[in-house]
Amino acid sequence: MKITRQEYARRRKALMELMEPNSIAIVPSAPERTRSRDTEYPYRQDSDLHYLSGFDEPHAVLVLFPEREHGEYVLFCRERDPERETWDGYRAGPEGACRDFGADDAFPIDDIDDILPGLIEGRERVYYAMGKDRDFDAQVMTWVNTIRAKVRAGAHPPGEFLDLSHFLHDMRLIKSAAEQRIMREAGEISARAHCRAMRFCKPGVMEYQLEAEIQHEFAMAGARYPAYNSIVGGGKNGCILHYVENNAALRNGDLVLIDAGCELESYAADISRTFPVNGRFSPEQRSLYELVLSAQLAAIEVIRPGSHWNLPHEMSVEVLTRGLVELGLLSGSVEELIENGAYKQFYMHRVGHWLGLDVHDVGDYKIEGEWRALEPGMVMTVEPGLYIAPDNETVAKKWRGIGIRIEDDVLVTKDGCEVLTSGVPKSPDDIEALMNA
Ligand code: GLY
Ligand code: MN
Ligand code: MN
Repeated sequence: MKITRQEYARRRKALMELMEPNSIAIVPSAPERTRSRDTEYPYRQDSDLHYLSGFDEPHAVLVLFPEREHGEYVLFCRERDPERETWDGYRAGPEGACRDFGADDAFPIDDIDDILPGLIEGRERVYYAMGKDRDFDAQVMTWVNTIRAKVRAGAHPPGEFLDLSHFLHDMRLIKSAAEQRIMREAGEISARAHCRAMRFCKPGVMEYQLEAEIQHEFAMAGARYPAYNSIVGGGKNGCILHYVENNAALRNGDLVLIDAGCELESYAADISRTFPVNGRFSPEQRSLYELVLSAQLAAIEVIRPGSHWNLPHEMSVEVLTRGLVELGLLSGSVEELIENGAYKQFYMHRVGHWLGLDVHDVGDYKIEGEWRALEPGMVMTVEPGLYIAPDNETVAKKWRGIGIRIEDDVLVTKDGCEVLTSGVPKSPDDIEALMNA
């Protein structure tokens, strides 16, 4: 269920068709990151480079030259090196870049400063992700200055620099059939992982032990890495939006909030579920939970082609504010409370984000100042939450320290939407049934 070579080629072709005449595009790999002294974090390729090539080695640069006679697709990458490969692992080398990744031409990355200026020379425009990485910005200018230094010898340096992200990210926003299949599978695996955590959970278990259960299910299903650091927060830790310490013991009577999704073939899933540590919701937990769930269902309800991006968010704000008034956590007119943002002390984030190769995926949310209309093939999360700070003295004590988020991944289809992560229960009765089975 991998993206085929043909699809990578189609993506490059589509991008080149959007580019101005006589231009080139340059896309560098992600840097390696040190974790401590001489050990590194697991390497993750830059999503743009991956999207255009499937080439996942570090120290690589992809260059596209629309209408270049000797090949439009050039990869610079590490050379084969038996000794380095014995220590650090396999390399495709320039030969493998052509043979296995469809490059028309490939060169050693160590030669890029000598080769690339000659290839840029004569092209009018350079597309690259401007301002994303200072070192790369400087490198592009070094190559261009190499050409500028030769103008008296007749060299023609490019005169225009354009942001590649604009085109590329619009392409990434609409998922192909193959991408949808992978994301559906990533959603199913992640849903099973959440079910596993629910079954395993009991008072006394450590938050990181639930994380381990989740990670186990990911890996056994073929998804080695999580798409982002898993969040497992028991009790008031659930009120910390990006809590990743995950090192507390889970307590009887508390809720636990898990936000975790796998990465499959570089595509992210992103699920949150909140459930009682002991398998039974208390009345307060259940009423706040049902409110968040009704906000989430109302938001999903309006997802279809033509709805604008902000509509699900507006639905969630309205349902949550009305419910908070009914439960006595807010008082006043619903309209005014929405107008003045009173709900934000309990619901301080937006209802969701694009999802794809990156968990907070690329793509504009507004077009010319207006919220973007949803289109088939877009994938977004829907994740309203309520977080009642433990020290919030404006609300009755019984509510304090409860944090709840319910998050699913939703694909916009031709006539509505498909929830990709429905494999994990979210109604309180279904959750209790699963936990007590
Ligand atoms: N897992 C990060 C988020 O839900 O946005
Ligand atoms: Mn999430
Ligand atoms: Mn999310």
